[in-house]
Amino acid sequence: MTMIGVHGGFPGLIDGRVSELSWDDVEGWVGDGGAELGTRREIPTVEQLYTLGRSIESHRIDALLVIGGYNAYLASHLLVRERDRYPAFNIPIVCVPASIDNNLPGSELSIGADTALNNAVRSLDAVKQSAAASHRCFVTETMGRKCGYLTLMSAIAAGAEQVYLHEEGITLTQLAADSERMVESFRSGRKLYLVVRNERASENYTTDVLAKIFAQEGKGLYDVRQAIIGHVQQGGDPTPFDRIMATKLVHNALGLLAEELERGGTQSSYVGLVEGEIAHHPLERMYDQLDRDSRRPREQWWMGLREAVSLVSHSTGTLAPEQVPTFGPAGE
Ligand code: F6P
Repeated sequence: MTMIGVHGGFPGLIDGRVSELSWDDVEGWVGDGGAELGTRREIPTVEQLYTLGRSIESHRIDALLVIGGYNAYLASHLLVRERDRYPAFNIPIVCVPASIDNNLPGSELSIGADTALNNAVRSLDAVKQSAAASHRCFVTETMGRKCGYLTLMSAIAAGAEQVYLHEEGITLTQLAADSERMVESFRSGRKLYLVVRNERASENYTTDVLAKIFAQEGKGLYDVRQAIIGHVQQGGDPTPFDRIMATKLVHNALGLLAEELERGGTQSSYVGLVEGEIAHHPLERMYDQLDRDSRRPREQWWMGLREAVSLVSHSTGTLAPEQVPTFGPAGE
């Protein structure tokens, strides 16, 4: 195979920003954070499809390995759907999941999610350690768009008392109960209360609003501070786990492409990690697995861990047996 690198995603391919990649060119990339080839989130418009097809033909591209997030998956799916109109798209395409949001179909984890989780937990730990003042509630905010993976996992790992996810939303009744539990908790001796909110958990109950509600209800019993963890979650050198997973996924994806090229096929797919094994699914069926409104997979295995936070936040350890959570996959 001759590897051609596309600079800047699909817009880069439309503009013909491609160059051959040698082993020397990619030296060291495995340990580098960021994205050497650049990331662009645009999905080609209908008007751009013709130019995109011409670019694939003129650069003699026989197959596409797409490493990216939700929009890259949608764009690849679009190409497969438009094959009848644009014959240039009749090439095998394989998508490899890469997003800190971990919101991609067909994979329990996406490349970057572990690195982002490490960054988020490091920040939450630091926030907790900063609490020299006694009796303090921290309302923190993590990324992930409408997918709560980063939020829930960092909350569990940092030992948070409360978590808010887009998957569940936030209601006023719930906030009243949560404030009451928080106040009770400080009254019975708790010094620190960590709340982790997903950036899209609710449109109106923002991190700022939550902090103000909790402060108001505390009536001076504790103080409240906010911390939006922000873009540190996107940076940093990839963890060994991410590097190894990326290597395995791409190796598998290249194998699939090679098979298709050998048999002259155009079967396209997305690869991922499923129960410890690498699996692949047909790209044309991708919508079956997606909740397209919320831009995440319908099945999210990690939601099965949701109750872990409730268990931790019951400081007195008085959960009734039926309230004790089981940590199986969601729904079990
Ligand atoms: O999709 C990855 C992500 O980091 C989201 O979690 C976050 O909402 C968004 O990107 C931030 O986008 P930007 O880097 O453009 O500010």
